[in-house]
Amino acid sequence: MIELTASEVAQATGGRLAADPDLRVVGPVVSDSRKVEAGSLFVALPGEKVDGADFAAGAVADGAVLVLAARELDGLPVVVVDDVARALGDLARTVLDRLRAAHPDVKVFSITGSAGKTTTKDLLGQVMAAEDGGTIAPTGSFNSEVGLPLTVLRGTDDTRNFVLELGADKPGDIGYLASIARPQIAIILMAGTAHIEFFGSQDAIAQAKAEVLTGMAPGGVAVLNADDLRIAALAGRATELGHRVVTFGRVRGADVRAEDVTVDATGRASFALRVRGRVAAAGETADDVRVPVTLRLVGEHHVSNALATAAAAILAGVAPAVVAARLSAAGPGSPHRMAVTERADGVTVVDDAYNANPESMRAALRSLAVMGGRTRRTVAVLGEMRELGEGARAAHDAIGRLVVRLNIKLLVVVGDGAYHIHEGAMQEGSWGEESVFVPDLDAAREVLDERLLAGDVVLVKASNGVGLWRLGDELAAGTVGSTTDAGAQE
Ligand SMILES: Nc1ncnc2c1ncn2[C@@H]1O[C@H](COP(=O)(O)OP(=O)(O)OP(=O)(O)O)[C@@H](O)[C@H]1O
Ligand SMILES: [Mg+2]
Repeated sequence: MIELTASEVAQATGGRLAADPDLRVVGPVVSDSRKVEAGSLFVALPGEKVDGADFAAGAVADGAVLVLAARELDGLPVVVVDDVARALGDLARTVLDRLRAAHPDVKVFSITGSAGKTTTKDLLGQVMAAEDGGTIAPTGSFNSEVGLPLTVLRGTDDTRNFVLELGADKPGDIGYLASIARPQIAIILMAGTAHIEFFGSQDAIAQAKAEVLTGMAPGGVAVLNADDLRIAALAGRATELGHRVVTFGRVRGADVRAEDVTVDATGRASFALRVRGRVAAAGETADDVRVPVTLRLVGEHHVSNALATAAAAILAGVAPAVVAARLSAAGPGSPHRMAVTERADGVTVVDDAYNANPESMRAALRSLAVMGGRTRRTVAVLGEMRELGEGARAAHDAIGRLVVRLNIKLLVVVGDGAYHIHEGAMQEGSWGEESVFVPDLDAAREVLDERLLAGDVVLVKASNGVGLWRLGDELAAGTVGSTTDAGAQE
């Protein structure tokens, strides 16, 4: 946290001061009153269910010295603004600008795309953390109009690298977040179909990702996925806006690419990282290099996230061989994302229940098939992929068919919203035994208790709101689907 006076907070947010102007905020800026520390600024966001302002008195009692709120609060030191979330954004923008003015070597990396943002943020965070100067890349998603400014405001005078995730569920979101972050290095991962309900089409999703190009610091670098045609096509726009373009991917033309990709039986990918000399940090020249990488993350799709990370880190001045070594050492950062647990009874649980959309569902299922190999039984426990709009039925149906094509041994489809996964599997030729539809988590628990066998590999995945991650936790702990119970048999 950078120290701020109440009057500076009022100035940055255009707010009205109902507090001593010289009050000093010296603790973290938080919107969750439970996270208040001595000297905090408490941001009282009006929510759908609860009004943050109701927690302001408690926050002050716990040590907050100032409150940002939409109204005056009796006897509390408040900066009053019209729109608390916008004010929080304005504050983050001001603080970041100030930090940049004081330290021209501050770098802001931004990551946007339909899937892989948090994973890439965690990878890049781990690669950059070993560099001089502090790196901010907090665990979790923090990609919203609240999460991103709160992340920025975690910066201190020592912070030199901000690795920020930019999320969007409608046009304009990325542009707004980019106007706060003003990234020098902007990664665009992919234009998939996540939240398509609110965008209308995949092209519109790609255009929304492109908003970051307008928000970037002048003369920045756009790091674009060459394997995604819609993202690769943004190169022209980036160049027009005066940015450099560096591409990553598996296609031959990419500046940073993966060659000779293999995936082992644990689902982890190895590849040769090829980097064109032109990618070297500004002012440097380098020869093309080729260095080996073995990821600890599970899933071939992470090769793409690793390449994006490599491109960004190399642009920031880290040598390719060092990047390769750090990528190979990097572990999973945030929970419920391809989290693998090897149980004592030989069951492998792959918990990818943090979220789901068609792209990540396909990626996870392919990983499951690879991990099953020729010898192990594979089980997929799948729930609804939300926010897919009109295409929802077809998208679920397609996943069911993919499950059959990948020869997954047992499919458990959980909840009405996911029903068409089951239907698709049946249509594609699955037998009644192989695909089971159950209405809820309890029924899923029963099926797993009954049918899971020692040595199985089981994947759990759905949109976050479905709550399937509970099942992921229970399977990992062995409280569901234990194969050592007397009753476990098939
Ligand atoms: N390149 C990729 N292709 C397909 N799926 C991916 C890719 N990268 C990550 N995933 C999968 O997408 C899911 C979400 O990953 P992650 O949390 O990194 O994405 P995110 O973009 O941050 O998502 P959110 O928008 O929910 O914040 C996980 O299941 C992960 O395995
Ligand atoms: Mg995320």
